[in-house]
Amino acid sequence: MTYSAPKGTKDILPDEISAWQKAERVFSEVCSEYGFREIRIPTFEHTEVFQKGVGGSTDVVRKEMYTFQDKGGRSMTLRPEGTAGVVRSYIENGMSSLPAPVRLFYMINAFRYEKMQKGRYREFHQFGVEAFGSAGPNIDAEIISLLVMFFDRMGIRETRLCINSIGCPECRAAYYEALNEFFADKISGMCPDCNERFKQNPMRILDCKEERCGVFTSRAPRQLAFLCENCKTHFDGLKSTLDALSIAYTVDPGIVRGLDYYTRTVFEFVSDHVGTQGTICGGGRYDKLVEMMGGTSVPGVGFAMGVERFLMEASSQNVAFSEPATVKIYIANLTEETAALCQRIAFSLRRLGIGCETDLTGRSFRSQMKYANKAGIPFVAVIGPDEAVSAKMALKRMSDGSEMTFSFETNMAEIKRHILNN
Ligand code: HAM
Repeated sequence: MTYSAPKGTKDILPDEISAWQKAERVFSEVCSEYGFREIRIPTFEHTEVFQKGVGGSTDVVRKEMYTFQDKGGRSMTLRPEGTAGVVRSYIENGMSSLPAPVRLFYMINAFRYEKMQKGRYREFHQFGVEAFGSAGPNIDAEIISLLVMFFDRMGIRETRLCINSIGCPECRAAYYEALNEFFADKISGMCPDCNERFKQNPMRILDCKEERCGVFTSRAPRQLAFLCENCKTHFDGLKSTLDALSIAYTVDPGIVRGLDYYTRTVFEFVSDHVGTQGTICGGGRYDKLVEMMGGTSVPGVGFAMGVERFLMEASSQNVAFSEPATVKIYIANLTEETAALCQRIAFSLRRLGIGCETDLTGRSFRSQMKYANKAGIPFVAVIGPDEAVSAKMALKRMSDGSEMTFSFETNMAEIKRHILNN
């Protein structure tokens, strides 16, 4: 009997890992250059953290959470996203006393019980940032520019930035009224989920992916037309800062985002290559969330990028991720008696920081050479009884066959210099 990975999960195999590692390294670098510091939060939280944080009317909370009872009878949930956990941590660890803006970034896996489609998984990965304590639009533009910097440095082009404002609770009241009025005579022809949404939060109707509902939702009023003066000024501020940074964007009044915590700015980076609605990354402002989760009143803004979707985009743009080989020398062994010596030489070279491999399976000399060649290891040294007596080895550069001989007892540092210079 063999097993397969659960539906919606996948292995990240060694052949794919350099892309992941490069993305992780560049994302950490860019975040650090912007003054963001990494936070690591638990994989699961008390279920209420997400019910409160993400919002009871969202599809994520209503249908997609991996919730279970632990052995102590507590309800726990695997994180469906990072923001709620980061906010919980920000409050619990008293971070509001730190100088604002408190800027955090994370690289996490997340879990949603979703219908499988291209670019949609049940376990997926997010790179995200959250910034607390700054209410103006400049920081919204700052985190958007951080993403643009990340895409640039990874060699990604052609993603489109779409922005919108979904206002504050004050201007939203008038908008909800307009939505209720608009849907009142249509809701009976819409799906059962939308009927539920109509009662709980009419804006969530705009998330519906059913065709019969789409006919109506595409004609529904948009929040942008209902913004109060303060929200309008905020949105204008975002647009003019993006203009100043020469970051191109489209205003898309249709963006509402699928999570309940957003206020004012919302944005997405989209592409035609990544399947499900084409969203690589989504984010926005959540000025009421910290307070709603029991903290003081502190504004926040952030985003999360789907790493699988980002890498899918990179591959469709033919971005290469090859990293230089880490293993620099292959120590080929000629006899059983010299196997331990090969391992000792390899051990000494690794102590000096030189990546090194030797045979561990008793392979013939020929197949060892074949292996080293195939693995693209740039230098090979052959060790047999003669080398054991002379304590010298000839280091062969595979690209041109040139050789230099070194003592492996006294010349390790020279070997290192030779390898690094060639
Ligand atoms: P989200 O839009 O739910 O926002 O997710 C962000 C990104 O995660 C999406 O744009 C997508 O690339 C990726 N993603 C979401 N679900 C899946 C899935 N099932 N499979 C593959 N990728 C997926 C959030 O999670 C917010 N916490 C973002 C945020 C942070 N807003 C403010 N701060």
